[in-house]
Amino acid sequence: TYVVTDNCVRCKYMDCVEVCPVDCFYEGENMLVIHPDECIDCGVCEPECPADAIRPDTEPGLDKWLTINADYADKWPNITIKRDALPDAKEMDGQEGKFEKYFS
Ligand code: SF4
Ligand code: F3S
Repeated sequence: TYVVTDNCVRCKYMDCVEVCPVDCFYEGENMLVIHPDECIDCGVCEPECPADAIRPDTEPGLDKWLTINADYADKWPNITIKRDALPDAKEMDGQEGKFEKYFS
């Protein structure tokens, strides 16, 4: 599966939503996540993210993000249509530790 990681938080550009062939993105207020059981590993979304926040879980060190994606995909609603990015997406892009800072 692919996973959404920290730099999506408070950016939420949503370009990923449009390209996913199986509509497996789920929406929280500050970020999206991918449902690991639904993602077919096509890889199409990875280069579409302007924040470079999507990674294959075959990369090392992504266990935490796999858990976060799996947990929230079960709680949040499915999203299939791209809307506008969050208003301060540009300022937030590239900041470190956004999940810890902004997730409540
Ligand atoms: Fe969707 Fe493919 Fe991205 Fe998985 S890798 S979330 S199936 S676009
Ligand atoms: Fe997030 Fe990138 Fe999609 S910022 S909403 S993973 S396009």
